[in-house]
Amino acid sequence: MRRPFISANWKMYKTTGETRDFINAFLPAVKSVSDVDIVLAPPFTSLAAAGELLKGTNVDLSAQNMYFEAEGAYTGEISAKMILDLGSKYVILGHSERRQYFGETDEFLNKKVKAARAAGLSVIFCIGETLDERNSGKMFDIIKRQVVGGLKDVDTNGLVIAYEPVWAIGTGVTATPEQAQEAHKFVRDQLRNVYGDKADDLRILYGGSVKPDNVKELMAKPDVDGALVGGASLKPDSFEKIVKFR
Ligand code: 13P
Repeated sequence: MRRPFISANWKMYKTTGETRDFINAFLPAVKSVSDVDIVLAPPFTSLAAAGELLKGTNVDLSAQNMYFEAEGAYTGEISAKMILDLGSKYVILGHSERRQYFGETDEFLNKKVKAARAAGLSVIFCIGETLDERNSGKMFDIIKRQVVGGLKDVDTNGLVIAYEPVWAIGTGVTATPEQAQEAHKFVRDQLRNVYGDKADDLRILYGGSVKPDNVKELMAKPDVDGALVGGASLKPDSFEKIVKFR
């Protein structure tokens, strides 16, 4: 059985004060949830504040990015060790916004995934096709390339996959549950080629306009094991409803 995994991705939203306000409202609301892994991914600047408030609770912390070197002259960058030090258990890597706006390639991401795992950080590894890629029939090739390239020589420990079709991110257009299941099944087949039966234990999250009113039907699909939520995770009551999707 794969335990549901629901993570917020706050992207470039929230100051430390706003982060504290969210967490102080959210924690009591989800205190009784014991059958879902719940994760918050605030921006770097809020990690320390969030880490202190989440310590010892049923909500884990994630960073949204990191650099693969352990330390050095890399102005503006942050290492896995620095993220761990703030109480973060996870890091999101390979988000389409990183690939699209910051030119992150499969090869580059593979270095980050390896460095995160070597340091002891769990990884939420994102993949997904653009609308052009889907419409031109390249969707499956792209997903396969992202899985094989990004996860080269990486084992399944501490790994969570997030399928986020780029055309569904922040657009209000959600993949239908059937589209999500089709893609998730394909992703799991690719993972099986790499990991064999261990692929059945890997959680594959869906991301892209997940909302309180569509999460339940997405979660009902056999290969959808959780959600990575952007816009609808910014308000405590909205994210609470998603976490309590049942
Ligand atoms: P939205 O939920 O705002 O579409 O964002 C999805 C996403 O990119 C999560 O990582």
